[in-house]
Amino acid sequence: MFFFEETKVSDRKTVFSGIQPTGDIHIGNYLGALRNWVKLQDGFDAIYCVVDLHAITVPYDPVALHRSRLDTAKLLLAVGVDPGRSLLYFQSQVPQHAELSWMLSTITSLGALNRMTQFKEKANKAGENLGLFSYPVLMAADILVHKAHAVPVGDDQTQHLELARDLAERFNSRFGDEFPVPEQITPDVGARIMSLKDPTSKMSKSDDDVNTRVLLLDEPDTIRRRFKGAVTDSETEIRYDPEKKPGVSNLLDILSLFTGRSVDALAQDNRSTQYGHFKATVAEAVVEGLSPIRTAFKALDDEEVSRIMVKGALDARMRAEGEMASVRKKLGFDARLGSEG
Ligand code: AMP
Ligand code: TRP
Repeated sequence: MFFFEETKVSDRKTVFSGIQPTGDIHIGNYLGALRNWVKLQDGFDAIYCVVDLHAITVPYDPVALHRSRLDTAKLLLAVGVDPGRSLLYFQSQVPQHAELSWMLSTITSLGALNRMTQFKEKANKAGENLGLFSYPVLMAADILVHKAHAVPVGDDQTQHLELARDLAERFNSRFGDEFPVPEQITPDVGARIMSLKDPTSKMSKSDDDVNTRVLLLDEPDTIRRRFKGAVTDSETEIRYDPEKKPGVSNLLDILSLFTGRSVDALAQDNRSTQYGHFKATVAEAVVEGLSPIRTAFKALDDEEVSRIMVKGALDARMRAEGEMASVRKKLGFDARLGSEG
């Protein structure tokens, strides 16, 4: 577990995280990861990345990708990622990610990659390719290229993060100390927001049924409809029990995160509220909570956002290049062009 500490700017720890520009961002992404991204800007040296190289590991349309990476960047700004305090950029514009990924791939065992459950899920759905198989190595490179100490993600990324930790340790012991071993930062509540239609599986961008999720930019009436159709159970009592009552418990989690009140207090207050009424309460809290994000998104200008992203990429390149010099040297390469033989 990672501790949030008061630190001097000079010895601030670095946090890094990424999000794919595939599909639309939903409240699971927001509650599990993005809210932490915003919070961590205060005490940490924060680096956030739209991981577009990861997005091409499944079949995609280049024209649609071009649009969705910009929309993802806009949404990150709209939720409160502040380019004045964080570094924000597109992964494809910082080539050191791919370079380090290649290097790390040479110390990654095929067995470790074969155990990745997300690879199996995605390969079953979209077909396999080498990039999809080595996706977790690129993710490790994303984190390690910035020597990040901590990574705010939802709990579906735990297995990938374990590989990143393992690769950091393996590199350090084989070539000498280089990388901090990154810690995972996952919220106590909201680490896994569940599908509204099947509360035993996580809310996902790639689910074919749009009724399973609420998007950050959904219209208020769409949000109300989604919660109205949320699957609960055949009882009548509102109680927090993720095992036996996953639908109701997921709604309590969401309500708690949008109101700032504890799950216990909300369960107590709503013990005998009718399910239909309770769902409407959750919907209103979400409509209200997302309203500033929708407003901020609409106010952002594409050109301006593109400029922010170019500036971010230039800064990230400089920074990553500085880190890569000693990595290259440790591997037996020249640290810089023009250096010794
Ligand atoms: P992705 O959409 O896969 O790029 O995920 C972006 C971030 O959102 C990652 O940190 C995920 O762990 C997190 N995330 C995705 N789905 C959920 C969910 N249903 N609940 C909580 N966090 C999630
Ligand atoms: N694999 C992550 C996801 O699907 C996205 C990601 C790529 C990421 N590189 C990363 C997250 C580095 C954290 C750190 O959500």
